[in-house]
Amino acid sequence: MANKMTKRIVVAGGAGYIGSHVCVELLTGGASALVIDNFSNAHPEALNRIRELASGDLEFLECDLADPAQKDTIIGAVKNFRPDGAVHLAGLKAVGESVEQPARYYRVNLGAALTLIEALEAADAKKLVFSSSATVYGDRNQSPVDESGLTGATNPYGRTKLFIEDIAKDIARSDDEWRVVNLRYFNPVGAHPSGRIGEDPNDIPNNLFPFIAQVAVGRRDKLQIFGDDYSTPDGTGVRDYIHVVDLARGHAAALNYLTTQKTGGAVDINLGTGKGFSVLEAVAAFKRASNRDIPYEIAPRRDGDIAEIYANADRAEKLLGWRAEKTLENMCADHWRWQSQNPDGYKA
Ligand code: UD1
Repeated sequence: MANKMTKRIVVAGGAGYIGSHVCVELLTGGASALVIDNFSNAHPEALNRIRELASGDLEFLECDLADPAQKDTIIGAVKNFRPDGAVHLAGLKAVGESVEQPARYYRVNLGAALTLIEALEAADAKKLVFSSSATVYGDRNQSPVDESGLTGATNPYGRTKLFIEDIAKDIARSDDEWRVVNLRYFNPVGAHPSGRIGEDPNDIPNNLFPFIAQVAVGRRDKLQIFGDDYSTPDGTGVRDYIHVVDLARGHAAALNYLTTQKTGGAVDINLGTGKGFSVLEAVAAFKRASNRDIPYEIAPRRDGDIAEIYANADRAEKLLGWRAEKTLENMCADHWRWQSQNPDGYKA
């Protein structure tokens, strides 16, 4: 829950999958939010649903943080809002697309982050929670991986996450009023238990859970499982799936943490459950939760995938007093509720 000190929060990318859940969490905790979003991978209906789920004060600015022509408008609006800090989740996130269009990924993701940082400086609200990713650990670590793990992204998307983490650290070094938390998410899945907000991919889903959910609901014929010859217990890839509501609680906890810090600085914090599940285990759990058949075939390994990664999440517990509470069953049940009640996402 947001405490009384973290009252007014800019949520960049607040209409998206994770951002919408963060907004509900913050508003429910008594904070006010200014969402900045350009709906590049989000839908205006998400804002209506947030308002339906949480009664707090939600303001909205439709702007592109990466567009230099809109920078002054954004800085003005942020100053006007008088924020205490921000959560930054605005950016492009498709790994494959980032390999094909690296310049666009660097321009959009880095540009958006820099504009937000400039706006927070101008508003004298130097607290930032950044949406980073376990992708920064690349393929060089043994799991469970803690925050001292080697970093080294394997694609441009991942490198934008690493670069922004480093930019935030440089900024915190340059001015000790800045307080930053880089949240390294493992694999966010699930949806709000109401079934009103959830993940609504623009195109063919890249990630496992939205794909499984679309197969279960009949939008796609079958799942392809990318490789069953990894050195994991059943040969399929192992990941640390984390319920998006647990993840959203982690953001509120990170903002509270920043408020209580007497000195400036930047810290990286994993948000994961600490447990790994295989693709086959995820499919079986989703099948139970949905009571639908999930046809699949084994396909070749996907380029860039690793066998196994899951978190050591001790630092989150120690610094934020946070730990994941929801199970794989909860993730599947809630993801399914969202998908079955909104088979075409927000478009309907
Ligand atoms: C991916 C991104 C990561 C990003 C994260 C966001 C890659 C290489 N990494 O992680 O940078 O931060 O999403 O959640 O894309 N799988 C299938 N069939 C599918 C889809 C996935 O078998 O149709 C398997 C994958 O091989 C993997 C597991 O499911 O073993 C999870 O895949 P996914 O949901 O795409 O997440 P990551 O690859 O872990």
